[in-house]
Amino acid sequence: MRYDVFSIFPDFFVSPLNQTILKRAIQNNIISVNIHDIRDYAEGKHRTTDDYPYGGGSGMVMKVQPIVDAVKDVKSKIGVTTESIKIILTTPQGRTFNQKIAGELAGFKNIMIICGRYEGIDERVKDIICPDEISIGDYVLSGGELPALVIIDAVSRYVPGVLGSESSVEADTFSDGLLKYPQYTRPEEFRGLKVPSVLLSGKHGEIEKWRRSESIRVTLAKRPDLLENAELTEEDKEIIKGSGN
Ligand code: ADE
Repeated sequence: MRYDVFSIFPDFFVSPLNQTILKRAIQNNIISVNIHDIRDYAEGKHRTTDDYPYGGGSGMVMKVQPIVDAVKDVKSKIGVTTESIKIILTTPQGRTFNQKIAGELAGFKNIMIICGRYEGIDERVKDIICPDEISIGDYVLSGGELPALVIIDAVSRYVPGVLGSESSVEADTFSDGLLKYPQYTRPEEFRGLKVPSVLLSGKHGEIEKWRRSESIRVTLAKRPDLLENAELTEEDKEIIKGSGN
């Protein structure tokens, strides 16, 4: 999986990509993340990447030319086909990112992410590139760099080999539409609080059953809205009925 990220703050990515799971995936050549400085494509003496908005108003708007040229250049250098590539624009106006979208994006061999900045981006970037506009939530960040990192992290978890064999994205919270069951590690007792005995029993069937019913209990308590789209078995539905919901 190859990511190409377009930003005017390329240094933003240095540390996050150099930690734990993403670092290992990059070192093992399972993913590559190529950061492109949009400023390198800006024309004119001052290489400006933004300008005042037509019609007035506060803030600056990212210019169309450097972004369109940057994407075109990288596309032609890596020689991608339209089917294998997904181009994303991070913006609070986009569809809201979630686990399902992360799984879908993992099906692409090449993902390009254009990081929006300031108060906006010239609308013609959207007309020309037709990106998939993605928001990571209903709040406004200073720019698209953090959203790009969020997307890269969540999507990469689906790429075979990124997670160690001991963990899998299927066991994650949200993967089946439910929140994760409670987890414990040593000691068995801390300040009088004991680890549930079933987890110490060694009975895998019972442990799985307990975890499933705890997932449902936690989801009911904290995010009941998720249950509407969750993949539930008949047994799960009985647990929900039994809880009075
Ligand atoms: N840029 C600024 N805020 C954002 C958000 N919530 N999601 C994606 N891109 C953004």
